[in-house]
Amino acid sequence: MQTKYDTILILDFGGQYCHLIGRRVREQGVYSEIVPHDITPEEVRKIGEKFNVKGLILSGGPASVYEPNAPQINFAILELRLPVLGLCYGHQLIAQMVKGKVKPAECREYGFAEVVIDKPVGVLKGMKPKEVVWMSHGDTVFELPAEFETLAHTESCPVAAYRHKTRAIYGLQWHPEVVHTKNGTQMLRNFIFDVCCCEANWKMEDLIGKMVNEIRTEVGNSTAIIGLSGGIDSSVATALAARALGDKLTAVFVDHGFMREGEPEAISRTFQKFGINFVVADAQKRFMEKLKGVVDPEKKRKVIGKEFIRVFEEVAEKSGAQYLIQGTIYPDRIESGFRKNSDVIKSHHNVAGLPSKIKFKKIVEPLRDLYKDEVRKVALMLGLPKEIVNRQPFPGPGLAVRIIGELDEEKVKVAKKTDAIVREEIEKAGLEKKLWQYFTVLTDTKATGVKGDSRAYGYVVAVRAAESQEAMTANFAQIPYPVLEKISTRITNEVPEVTRVVYDVTHKPPATIEWE
Ligand code: XMP
Repeated sequence: MQTKYDTILILDFGGQYCHLIGRRVREQGVYSEIVPHDITPEEVRKIGEKFNVKGLILSGGPASVYEPNAPQINFAILELRLPVLGLCYGHQLIAQMVKGKVKPAECREYGFAEVVIDKPVGVLKGMKPKEVVWMSHGDTVFELPAEFETLAHTESCPVAAYRHKTRAIYGLQWHPEVVHTKNGTQMLRNFIFDVCCCEANWKMEDLIGKMVNEIRTEVGNSTAIIGLSGGIDSSVATALAARALGDKLTAVFVDHGFMREGEPEAISRTFQKFGINFVVADAQKRFMEKLKGVVDPEKKRKVIGKEFIRVFEEVAEKSGAQYLIQGTIYPDRIESGFRKNSDVIKSHHNVAGLPSKIKFKKIVEPLRDLYKDEVRKVALMLGLPKEIVNRQPFPGPGLAVRIIGELDEEKVKVAKKTDAIVREEIEKAGLEKKLWQYFTVLTDTKATGVKGDSRAYGYVVAVRAAESQEAMTANFAQIPYPVLEKISTRITNEVPEVTRVVYDVTHKPPATIEWE
């Protein structure tokens, strides 16, 4: 029998750092899952069938504990007697639940703060008498009942950290997960290893075997197809599925016509060398037809998601495959709104873009719990070629979601040319390693220009370059002006349909990386 991963569940109160907590826990070699804040004991037990749940972290969140509909936990989960760590909103919520005194702070604390450590024990073990931490809160805990003790305070926050005297319940007013809290990692380690007694058994090496086994067990004696886009996620999923199934697997590359210049050829070259059953489905015409008149981005994604499945079904019918394997990763599921009470940010084509009725027995998603950087580690361990490991992420719907509004052949041609120029110039300037993604967006705006001595009226193209760790948040990249100038000059010279180039200077949030 395989060992279950020791696991920390992170109860999501909507805080912007919620994912960071998840990442930090996993960096310590311990598995973490983000779960709804009102998860029930039954749901925790269900997770417990697969994972060894050892502790709960209550994340921060934008609400105030005395708002009428302030998010709560399901009290019954405390009966599970798991160690609990409340951070920021989580800290205030526990205090309020046990009838402590929580009030709006007279002066809100944002940013760096110095806390006085009154008792360096438990989560605060090894901390110095004064620690620099990152605070971001309006409400403050002023008093707790006698069964709690204060572990730290600041000038304006008398109970900045606490613990229950006999049970493993802790609260920190600050955010140990952000790098600005100097010893934040140690605080989290104290909780994970000392308080929850986790073993660091979330190892990528074991994971490969586990995922291969899972695919083998799911598919059994049947056959499967896998959607292969040439991106890192589907390539890793293909490599794992090929290990699990050998020639019972067919990899299908759907050429929907919205790939980047030269890409379908490059992908075919790479994967034909892999010694797997590899099929290219030329679906350019049918995708374009289905997208005629479609303007709304969410509708576009749904049409594309559905058409992908219809192509897969047709290939499967020929090969007799009953299973579809996909390279869906954790952030795809989150942004597609799989969390309770969370908004659908966008329907990733392979998650919420799926039609409700499909002809497959099951969709198998071996990477569903991994973040992108974890997928990259697996790719390296599997020995995938560098051009795949380092390939910038590319959305499944391709350039279709980088052309705003309705698509047509001319727009696709323009988008391919402008994208190729950005790629060339960024790579020539040696900036690609610093960037998560760099591409163009063909906007639905036109602008007047002057080319030669004549008036021109053409497309406005936006250049987008972003830095990110795992795509849940991103910063626009500060590309040097000379590089931007070169890009702009080349685009307007080499692509006559474009009269204007703009640079997108928006972070995520509030924007997303892609425009649609
Ligand atoms: P956003 O635009 O949501 O994108 O900030 C986050 C990351 O996901 C990629 N992306 C997709 N990948 N199917 C995919 O396989 C999709 O439908 C999809 N939409 C966005 C995007 O390129 C970025 O890296």
